[in-house]
Amino acid sequence: MEVDREEKGFGVLVKQGAEARVFESNFVGRRSIIKERFSKKYRHPLLDSKLTLKRLNAEARCMTKARRLGVPTPALYGVDPLLHTLTFEYVDGLSVKEILLDFGSNGVNEERLDDIATQIGNAVGKLHDGGLIHGDLTTSNMIIKRDNNRLVLIDFGLSFTSTLPEDKAVDLYVLERALVSMHSSCGNVMDKILSAYRKSSKQWSSTMNKLAQVRQRGRKRTMVG
Ligand SMILES: Nc1ncnc2c1ncn2[C@@H]1O[C@H](COP(=O)(O)OP(=O)(O)O)[C@@H](O)[C@H]1O
Ligand SMILES: [Mg+2]
Repeated sequence: MEVDREEKGFGVLVKQGAEARVFESNFVGRRSIIKERFSKKYRHPLLDSKLTLKRLNAEARCMTKARRLGVPTPALYGVDPLLHTLTFEYVDGLSVKEILLDFGSNGVNEERLDDIATQIGNAVGKLHDGGLIHGDLTTSNMIIKRDNNRLVLIDFGLSFTSTLPEDKAVDLYVLERALVSMHSSCGNVMDKILSAYRKSSKQWSSTMNKLAQVRQRGRKRTMVG
């Protein structure tokens, strides 16, 4: 039954993850993406369905909120609580991951890198000032639109609202680690991102102080009391 749905209804599988499958599809004539959250078999079925729905709704809400804060995200076409799917606009472009891995070839130069880093810093600053934590700031969750080179943030599956400097710092730290581990040949992109972040976020100083602490101990909170 599940195979039928994949082949006939949802379209072409783009990514099979641990909590979701992503398909490229068509929504009333438009190229679209369907993200289907599925259950973790080891959880109780009813509890599981409730949790899956909660996450699905949270993802839709956070994506919409990011948009309202002026951060480009794919348009949301629909939420299906029975199939556990979200349908969004397909964003045509390359991920920041693909672009950074091309650094030094295919026209990816220092100037291009600066522009992308600035857009990332701006976007994250806006999210954070609006009290939104992305939760999974990796370079695969950022797409540069082919037609206008604008950054679009995707994958709000781990997003939540918070105004705590700690949460913002961890958000930035996840990005920093991703850049260090995957894109060290690009030089210090994080410095460029942070300099744009400072300009974009009014609360940058408390976040940067926390970031220094988070770097010391890693992302986990120290257990006290
Ligand atoms: N709106 C979109 N437009 C184009 N590609 C997308 C879109 N949403 C997701 N993708 C592609 O699907 C992949 C997985 O989607 P994502 O939302 O990041 O799910 P996951 O939580 O499994 O990482 C992305 O890395 C990207 O390649
Ligand atoms: Mg992702």
